[in-house]
Amino acid sequence: MSELRVTAISKLHAEFSVPGDKSMSHRAAIFGALSNGVCVIRNFLPSEDCLNTLNAMRALGASYEVLDELAGHGPLNLRLHGQAMQLKAPRAPIDCGNSGTGMRLLAGLLAGQPFSSELCGDASLSSRPMGRITIPLRQMGANIEPCGDKPGCAPLVIQAAKLIPIRYEMPVASAQVKSAVLLAGMFAEGTTTLIQPAVTRDHTERMLAAFGVRTHHDGLAVSIEGGQIPTACDFTVPGDISSAAFWLVAAAALPGSRLLLTDVGLNPTRTAILKVLGRMGARMLDVVHHAHGEPVGNLEIHGAPLTGTTILADEVPNLIDEIPVLAVAAALATGRTVIRNASELRVKETDRIHTVVHNLRSMGAVVEEFDDGLEIQGGHPLQGADLDSFGDHRIAMAFAIAGLFASGHTRIRNTDCINTSYPGFARHLDSIRHHRTHPGDFTLPTVSRA
Ligand code: S3P
Repeated sequence: MSELRVTAISKLHAEFSVPGDKSMSHRAAIFGALSNGVCVIRNFLPSEDCLNTLNAMRALGASYEVLDELAGHGPLNLRLHGQAMQLKAPRAPIDCGNSGTGMRLLAGLLAGQPFSSELCGDASLSSRPMGRITIPLRQMGANIEPCGDKPGCAPLVIQAAKLIPIRYEMPVASAQVKSAVLLAGMFAEGTTTLIQPAVTRDHTERMLAAFGVRTHHDGLAVSIEGGQIPTACDFTVPGDISSAAFWLVAAAALPGSRLLLTDVGLNPTRTAILKVLGRMGARMLDVVHHAHGEPVGNLEIHGAPLTGTTILADEVPNLIDEIPVLAVAAALATGRTVIRNASELRVKETDRIHTVVHNLRSMGAVVEEFDDGLEIQGGHPLQGADLDSFGDHRIAMAFAIAGLFASGHTRIRNTDCINTSYPGFARHLDSIRHHRTHPGDFTLPTVSRA
């Protein structure tokens, strides 16, 4: 089991790009495989989560070839052969690994197929709630059963079913739930409508549009008409702003630093982290263009003394994955930071309220835990500590960033999980610690693509 050892840095001057967006890579694999022809997907995230989804689509009949891959290094470019919505029955249970997105989106896709299937995952995924998707999918006529040791949890066993459209008010603001029901709606006859309680990331809707599938939007409601076959197209996945967030916080919290991140996805449903860091005192510039219906740009950030802030309720869904590293920024800021209305954090890869509070306290930070969030009294110097990731990739990376600001040595145990979303993180960390600034220093390591 691997670990990261980190000591403090005194400067940060770097320019590089982070690996492809995880949410968009899952969706590109799914919509490319459903399309009516050949799609070239560039900069697909070669992380375990996304490779599991890609291989799930292969198990459902959509083959792919890896293009111009340099011995396992660098971004993954793929040629994917779409099946025009005609999938074939998988021969074995589909393993989603650690990925809630993979499992929930695939469940929506498989709910309306004329064959049975099973979705399974690791211990963390098998303890995460699946009722949020099985409830609406059952209303559509799906025959889907959570068969885990823990009630309502994976594995999910899905039998052949013919779906009917529904109008569904989502009780949780979740892009995974929205996307699962939209995918099921593609296989139902008629119009399926979802009403979100708040704005959630809209990559599914944008990617459907890029593939020529019409959706209708009315405020927080999204509708899809079943039976539309996605038109094959090429797609370049921009860098993942949730991966960029680790370096943005490191640069923001270090006065005198300058960081330029190129080709980052800047979809407005994902950029709340930039607003919050700006409020805390970081100085930022961005230059945005559009590609495949998604805003993409270069982000330049300059460090400054940070001050605490209050995260607004409607910001939470749009920075849910960034809260662990934002809590680290809060500990480095002066004053109080309040993060409430965030109980969704308790059902992520770990209970992230608990794991963040535990690790921050181990480093000497002053933190109070609430059912739905945490409050950090910043400005208490962080001390190096022996920490665990608890198997959660974002906890591992957030506390590697904390280690860059702590006295003494910080060790984070159990860091293999980082490969679920950010292969190459340890190399990027190493390059920053050794003051290498050239983007050429940032190559991705080999990951298993079996
Ligand atoms: C994701 C949605 C979010 C996020 C996850 C990726 C997606 O989950 O936390 O990392 O790609 O749709 P929820 O939809 O459950 O909030």
